[in-house]
Amino acid sequence: MPINSSLLIRHATIMLPNGEFIVGDVLVRDRLIVQVAPEISIPGIQEIDATGLTLLPGVIDPQVHFREPGLEHKEDLFTASCACAKGGVTSFLEMPNTRPLTITQQALDDKLQRAAQKCVVNYGFFIGATSENLPDLLTAHPTPGIKIFMGSMHGPLLVDTEAALEAIFAQGQRLIAVHAEDRARIEQRRLEFAGIHDPKIHSQIQDNQAALLATQLAVKLANKYQRRLHILHLSTAEEAEFLRQDKPSWVTAEVTPQHLLLNTNAYDTIGSWAQMNPPLRSQRDNEVLWKALLDGVIDFIATDHAPHTLAEKAQEYPLTPSGMPGVETSLPLMLTAAKEGRCTVAQVANWMSTAVAKGYGIANKGAISPGYDADLVLVDLNTYRPVVREELLTKCGWSPFEGWKLTGWPVITIVGGQIVYENGKVNTQLRGEALKFTNN
Ligand code: DOR
Repeated sequence: MPINSSLLIRHATIMLPNGEFIVGDVLVRDRLIVQVAPEISIPGIQEIDATGLTLLPGVIDPQVHFREPGLEHKEDLFTASCACAKGGVTSFLEMPNTRPLTITQQALDDKLQRAAQKCVVNYGFFIGATSENLPDLLTAHPTPGIKIFMGSMHGPLLVDTEAALEAIFAQGQRLIAVHAEDRARIEQRRLEFAGIHDPKIHSQIQDNQAALLATQLAVKLANKYQRRLHILHLSTAEEAEFLRQDKPSWVTAEVTPQHLLLNTNAYDTIGSWAQMNPPLRSQRDNEVLWKALLDGVIDFIATDHAPHTLAEKAQEYPLTPSGMPGVETSLPLMLTAAKEGRCTVAQVANWMSTAVAKGYGIANKGAISPGYDADLVLVDLNTYRPVVREELLTKCGWSPFEGWKLTGWPVITIVGGQIVYENGKVNTQLRGEALKFTNN
């Protein structure tokens, strides 16, 4: 693949690392940003006229489920990475509940090889914890960290007793990311609601208390061993309030756009498409999560992109699988929220890129500054367009946000200095790179 050595982005509204914006130019050479200035003039190199567009660091989505290997009828690394490019997502961290599960170095290597062949954006893969693979968890490389499912079950990918969890927290130092839902409580409530086929009860079975119990246990263990802990998709007011009281420097948390913007009312309009784990909550939870994000209790945003086919989602609850796609809509959803005054554009860029790079120790990413990788997205904050099913690139072919009128759609996405997405089209010839994690 030829490397386009130089690219000049002109007249963009550029977000600087201090969160301020200037109108100016960015020079990219050999994959890196080399200069940011009010005016750069170099004749004879490829130029983008970005007049009226806003230049942000490319989104790093720290929680996605891309289904390859084993579940490619829902999504694969090529379709998912094209959807990323369209959504301004230049790097992703993918979860281990594929088939086979990513619980060995061999399975991790297999994913990395597939990604090198298929992904148009950059990639990293978690190693999944079982009750038996501690040696793999200690040595797997490269990986952003260990993923523990504390509640919802993907075969052996479940660690649900305090003793088994403690064995993992006690050894090694690498980041542990938890899906925090308490399995015992969920099992008990499942019995209480047996025979009801309305997907709405999903939020009552896997209730706020189930999430709080697991988050409290994970934080307790992290504190005991001062272990780097990341709490995935925080969903409840109770967890946010708990973290507000007790969030040491080694703990971070994320929230999804859907837990900020959708609540249990969504079951009335989109039915089982609203079903996910952890479930959607109440409007009050939405508000408390927003406040926690704005106050820094929640550190970053992930989509939990979890595609299932329309046919799978059309089954009767509880046969319907949990999860919804997200990488194509997350940035416009959050930028629309910024435009509505809920937060600033600079905060969105921090939550979706800068803070993620810092939290996972991803070197050289998350800022528009000389020396950083040229992973960038140019967005249009002046026009509104609806989410249209026919335009989606995710293989599952639907979005819970269909019909929502959003602004901040990516116009151009750049990965490693190369234009991978422009005005509706992905350059499918390009390939991203494996991410490096300095903390691991
Ligand atoms: O809703 C969800 N779906 N939550 C998860 O944690 C897993 C995901 C999936 O893989 O379908």
